[in-house]
Amino acid sequence: MSTQDALSWLETHESDSIARLIQWLAIPSVGTDPAHDEDTARAGQWAADHLKVSGFEVELCPTGTADSPGHPIVMASSAGSDDYTGPHVLFYGHYDVQPADPIELWESDPFTPIIKPAQGEVGERIVARGACDDKGQVMMFLEAMRAWYETTGQPGGGVKFTVMLEGEEESGSVNLERFIREHAERLGKTDVCLISDTGMLGRGKPAITYGVRGLAYTEITLIGPDQDLHSGLWGGRVPNPINELVKVLSQLWDEDRRVTIPGFYEGVRLLTDEERKTWKQLGVDPVAALRGIGLGADGDVGEKGFTAIEREWARPTADINGIIGGYTGPGAKTVIPSQASAKVSFRLVDDQDSAKITQAFFEWLEERTPAGCRWVFEDHGGGAPATCATESEPLRAAARAIEQACHQPTAMIKSGGSIPVAGLLKETLGLETIFMGFGLEDDRVHSPNEKFELDCYRMGARSHVVLVEQLKRIG
Ligand code: BES
Ligand code: MN
Ligand code: MN
Repeated sequence: MSTQDALSWLETHESDSIARLIQWLAIPSVGTDPAHDEDTARAGQWAADHLKVSGFEVELCPTGTADSPGHPIVMASSAGSDDYTGPHVLFYGHYDVQPADPIELWESDPFTPIIKPAQGEVGERIVARGACDDKGQVMMFLEAMRAWYETTGQPGGGVKFTVMLEGEEESGSVNLERFIREHAERLGKTDVCLISDTGMLGRGKPAITYGVRGLAYTEITLIGPDQDLHSGLWGGRVPNPINELVKVLSQLWDEDRRVTIPGFYEGVRLLTDEERKTWKQLGVDPVAALRGIGLGADGDVGEKGFTAIEREWARPTADINGIIGGYTGPGAKTVIPSQASAKVSFRLVDDQDSAKITQAFFEWLEERTPAGCRWVFEDHGGGAPATCATESEPLRAAARAIEQACHQPTAMIKSGGSIPVAGLLKETLGLETIFMGFGLEDDRVHSPNEKFELDCYRMGARSHVVLVEQLKRIG
């Protein structure tokens, strides 16, 4: 029985497989930082080489334009065996990682991966930037492909796969839309997208995520006087851009913590009673989650009328991600700064439109321009929300694969995070996405000491192995 052979291969070769992951994680592919351009390219090449060894046809495709090149996209394919009748699956992942800073909060070097032993409920884990997001998760798929190739000699175990690995996910997938349009013919031949870049319901509770939120990301600058000023001589005589900026931004929410921008909630799909009921039955403990991040029950704060997971999975939000301005060095400096900036982003749900929200926000700011000041706006892009069909054949196959591989039921969940490719594929090619991810809420993705637990890695690699069998059974 070949699935059993591939699963056994995973088991026998696990230490090699972890060693390979460590090698990949040691490449600091911080896609957003030009200083790491070469490293990022090397991480893409590394994945391409891995796929080649598993019998895939591989190419590294350049992105962007001659003037502003992007990071390459790894494209790979397995032809599928002659008798394969299942769906042609597009596997998407990203090989870029978030910047490691603040570096001083890491207990070990972010790009010198280490294995840490189990500690309380936290299992044995690999600690490194990208361990979970997303190299560790992509690696589960890569090693599953390797297991099938090594045991059967067939690329993809006989399943028709197209693989697309991006190097710009963490910087907003800026070149991806053009790439997808330019490769629409090839990508359009696929039937469904598969992504491993999300989390589970909890430890040992695997899940399929059927929706992610969208994002609109902006940076706004309020400019006042043309120079920094002595706050004794000028304070009270002129607008202070920081004072004015925070006064405007504080109007973004009403007392129910709803966003006040006109039209913001237009098109927002309302939660159905059915959804609210099923989500409640998932048994998520919001207080335990808060405890994990140092908060008490009084930290359960957000839009009025919705529970924590309802707010995360189904409601749009506005957040200030950073405020820049004035004197922030040691000691005191009495200054009225010439300008102040903020990074403001919005998490979106179906059917909000990222570009429209950004536009509405900028107009809302214009109408509130403080006297004597002017705005400069920057649009850092974003991505569309995506809610996917929960009843397709490939999704049922994925759920069965998880159950067979992990001996656990597959929970159906959503996530508040964003993965722009899903919206793009739906919009341009009508493709549905299956998010089959194995992260945990305490994996510290994007934070210091990011980790991926080996038990999660095992569940993921096994599930992807069994998925091959399940896909082949679809007639
Ligand atoms: N993998 C994450 C998103 C995620 C994490 C989804 C956990 C579900 C569960 C992804 O790499 C990410 O960080 N996305 C960014 C989007 C962006 C930079 C456009 C995000 O959500 O902030
Ligand atoms: Mn990710
Ligand atoms: Mn990320």
